[in-house]
Amino acid sequence: MSHELNGTRPAAAAAKGPIRAHVTGWGRYVPSQILSNKDLERMVDTNDEWIVSRTGIRERRVAAAHETTASMGAVAGLRAIHTAGIDPDDIDLILLATLTPDYWMPSTAALVKEAIGNTRAAAMDVAAACSGFVYGFATAQAWISAGLAKHVLVIGAELLTRFLDYSDRSTCILFGDGAGAAVLSASTEPGGALGVELTTEPQGAYMIWLPAGGAKSPPSAETIARGEHFIRMEGKETYRFATKTLASTALESVRKSGLEPDDIRLFIPHQANIRIIEAVAKGLDLSMDRMYTNVDKYGNTSAASVPIAMAEAVNEGRVDVGDRITIVAFGAGFTSGAVTIEWTADPARGRDADTKVRPEDVHVRLPVDWDSVDPIPPALAEIMARPGTVNPPLDDVVPGEPEPASHPLAR
Ligand code: ACO
Repeated sequence: MSHELNGTRPAAAAAKGPIRAHVTGWGRYVPSQILSNKDLERMVDTNDEWIVSRTGIRERRVAAAHETTASMGAVAGLRAIHTAGIDPDDIDLILLATLTPDYWMPSTAALVKEAIGNTRAAAMDVAAACSGFVYGFATAQAWISAGLAKHVLVIGAELLTRFLDYSDRSTCILFGDGAGAAVLSASTEPGGALGVELTTEPQGAYMIWLPAGGAKSPPSAETIARGEHFIRMEGKETYRFATKTLASTALESVRKSGLEPDDIRLFIPHQANIRIIEAVAKGLDLSMDRMYTNVDKYGNTSAASVPIAMAEAVNEGRVDVGDRITIVAFGAGFTSGAVTIEWTADPARGRDADTKVRPEDVHVRLPVDWDSVDPIPPALAEIMARPGTVNPPLDDVVPGEPEPASHPLAR
């Protein structure tokens, strides 16, 4: 990374007052393949009524074989950059929050950097599970206010459907795939990110976890036979933590902003379960129209959930210039985080991002001389093979150099 803001506070800006982090761009991408509750009824002993009444989820998205966390993150990131009206090379730092990276190394953020056509940015992943986007957002705000970056791209991207045990009805019904992103930009004008609250409570470390594949339990035939490469969760304990911490974390962020919950136009919570969101509204003594929800459409997309919800809320006209909103999440760790934001960007800016940045124009580098296996779990593959759905063949996954970027934002 070499640019004028790397490590030096711009003198002109410093003279004018504090540097604030404004949200200037937002965007999201969800795969086109839909997995409905009815589809899940064909896989495990469950039913639509149970899933809707216990979670509020009606359907979720599933990435196609050629899609990865990086490819989805790159599309969402480019859409956010388009909304911000800047060039991909204007980004100084890329933070990608995920619990489903493409590889242990390199970081998924590094792959995204190349795919969006950026040559300058530092890029790293953020590991805070479902709170990852909020943790990334808070980090971006700190970089900007310290004068270390002018534009930061924060992405939450997840491909959870490849880490689910489709014989475990208590987890496989909950999660889906997708990506969301925001551009934070330095400004000396009022507004932007206000109070930040982040917490980590390690006594919940094994309430949601993925046991094998790391240094403590490297992958082996035994770990795979025991299904330790799938997400495991103690639903009830997690539920208890979530309802308590989402409300307290959001409240603390609002208070640190010098505000009261009534001053917040819209809370944008992590979309894990409608009952959790309803409990938070009750805890904050607010009606549900002050809570943004889209859990019915996408299920729990972990780190992607808050930025997808934020982009949709703004594009749907639920946020205006001058409004205060609070993004808030909880997740494995247990982690939780909230940031209150005074909105400063014209909400209309994001509305054509989906047509301007098409997924087929974004290419992620693939390894040379390496044959991928079919990434889709067999139980899902059977459902996805039905006629009329998007199911690109595996031979899309070819090794080699990335194709030249041809998306509209590339130089
Ligand atoms: N279909 C039908 N029945 C089911 C299903 C299903 N998919 N799953 C569980 N059941 C059964 C159980 O076996 C149990 O049956 P039993 O009474 O005969 O034993 C019954 O339904 C009740 O099960 P509970 O686990 O008590 O159901 P609960 O109301 O707690 O809902 C749920 C379960 C939805 C998982 C809930 O606990 C929850 O949402 N927890 C929080 C999960 C969460 O938010 N996780 C995300 C964390 S974020 C991250 O970082 C990844």
